Amino acid sequence: MGYENLKVEIAGGIATVTVDRPKALNALNSQTLREVAAVAAELEANPAVRALILTGGGEKAFVAGADISEMAGFTSEQGRAFSAVGHKAFAALEALPFPTIAAINGFALGGGLELALACDLLYASEKAKLGFPEASLAVIPGFGGTQRLTRLVGKQRAKELVLTGDRIDAAKAREYGLLLEVLPADQLMAHCRAVAERILKNGPVAVAQGKRLIEQGADLDLGAANALEQQAFGVMFGTRDQKEGMEAFLAKRPASYEGR
Ligand code: CAA
Repeated sequence: MGYENLKVEIAGGIATVTVDRPKALNALNSQTLREVAAVAAELEANPAVRALILTGGGEKAFVAGADISEMAGFTSEQGRAFSAVGHKAFAALEALPFPTIAAINGFALGGGLELALACDLLYASEKAKLGFPEASLAVIPGFGGTQRLTRLVGKQRAKELVLTGDRIDAAKAREYGLLLEVLPADQLMAHCRAVAERILKNGPVAVAQGKRLIEQGADLDLGAANALEQQAFGVMFGTRDQKEGMEAFLAKRPASYEGR
């Protein structure tokens, strides 16, 4: 499928999607948000894809936010609809059955940080700057930022970032628990690929179940979440890969997984 504002490359089971709108530092307009939803559906349907790395085109930005020139004249109803388009796109990303990795190569502000927060694993280059400047524009994060940020860093830190609009550097974002690692710019993509490759060695159904349980369980009480885990653990023993994985271990040979 062709995209106006996304570049898609697939190699060795890893899809790399680059948000590429250089004239607006990769800002997310409606078209780009619809393309994010479409690429998620396309990659989910492609059996050759088992991991996704998301990054920004150019040297300066991951994504500099939602598109301010598009939003400036919105009515209240248009604002709500735009938020819904963003939520739909990011929910589609979050629901992918394989890991998604944000390679934050520069500014990740507003909707750009929200895009990263919809990914499973967040890594950034030393020059990345992160923040939610929405309040300085007299709005709020509208693509899940108030909720996903809070779940990741807690209410107090989320309030500080959303209410001040402060832009923080990658080292501070890591200290806050927003990022897993901070890498020199020229090592960021290689690091993200290496993480994806380690995951690719594992049983695909186990990876999908692990992701799903952590996502769904985090919003449930512990008893209900643990019940989900018990059920899923049983399901794993109906897969060929479980037999292969344990037989390979006992035979002291590498396992070869089929994803079923
Ligand atoms: N929307 C639209 N255009 C944007 C943009 C955005 N979010 N961010 C940058 N651009 C455009 C600029 O208007 C500029 O265009 P022109 O060359 O036509 O003037 C071009 O990209 C380059 O940007 P700057 O000249 O501003 O670059 P800089 O290096 O001086 O500053 C920056 C970089 C600090 C990221 C600055 O561009 C900036 O502050 N951008 C806006 C960040 C922001 O407020 N994001 C949140 C948006 S609201 C939101 O996201 C709501 C939501 O949750 C749904």
